Amino acid sequence: MTIAVALVKQNQGNRSMTTAAAEKGAFRHYMLKEIYEQPSVLADTLHAHLTADGTLVDSLGAQEKALLARVECIHIVACGTSYHAGQVARYWIEAHARIPCHVELANEYAYRNPVVPANCLFLTLSQSGETADTLAALRHAQQAGYLATLAICNVLESSLVRESDLVLMTHAGPEIGIASTKAFTAQLLVLYLLAAQLVEAAATRQKLIRSVRDIADEVGAALQLDAVIHAQADKFASQQQALFLGRGPMYPIAMEGALKLKETSYIHAEAYAGGEMRHGPMALIDENMLVVAVAPHDAWLERVKAVLQEVSARGGQIL
Ligand code: M6R
Repeated sequence: MTIAVALVKQNQGNRSMTTAAAEKGAFRHYMLKEIYEQPSVLADTLHAHLTADGTLVDSLGAQEKALLARVECIHIVACGTSYHAGQVARYWIEAHARIPCHVELANEYAYRNPVVPANCLFLTLSQSGETADTLAALRHAQQAGYLATLAICNVLESSLVRESDLVLMTHAGPEIGIASTKAFTAQLLVLYLLAAQLVEAAATRQKLIRSVRDIADEVGAALQLDAVIHAQADKFASQQQALFLGRGPMYPIAMEGALKLKETSYIHAEAYAGGEMRHGPMALIDENMLVVAVAPHDAWLERVKAVLQEVSARGGQIL
């Protein structure tokens, strides 16, 4: 660490391992329970990082503003699902805060000799805070001349929290299912708030914060689609392979979707940025291929549609 940042490891009320949190209750398995916990996890995470009047708490401590004002570059390092959250954040940080952001797998970063620009923040993401590759990357970065190391983590007592200069907690509670769900959405929310905090213009910052104030209710509403999703899952349950497509920030969301399908269903799944389909992977499309397009109403929608027309012409099944 090259500046005098006080070690701020505030106890931000991370929920302890309560009996209720560790039992699966009426749910068939922990992953389902944890999917349904997302609205409350997001509400808890917002509550921890926003004041009652909707401004951001200085979660990084008294020197937060001075520190963030110095950040000219961010290196995000993580594994698996946490890496995908970092990939999404890159779009937000660069689009809104205009700070160059590089995202890398911890298991690659830890074994190379990175070039560290001046005033660069090293940011790790981890649900557990105990992932060996991410810890190795942090220890490697500590010798590399970063402005500071910041961990976004879900476990207050973890090695990652102990060894980082600065910490932002996700308030997801214990994640018992092996496949990460609620921790991922909590990471995304904290990353979005961090991106907002890095924005200089107060009006833009407030606009970004306002845009996520109802996120818990919105996710709750999405969970009401359960029966529709169930019917779709039944329809495609016999598929042996799937391609997930997305563009912009939805590309890493597609990567996360493919990872979830592999992990939970043992169906071979890969993700591509929609625009990349014409550079080879389109050859894989026939009636045996399920193509899951992550295509919200955003600036990329028309481009995704164009790719899906080609998928459809080759007989691919589109969800
Ligand atoms: O605890 P971490 O977030 O550091 O774990 C990193 C990965 O092992 C993890 O995200 C993994 O990819 C997910 N559990 C998959 O669902």
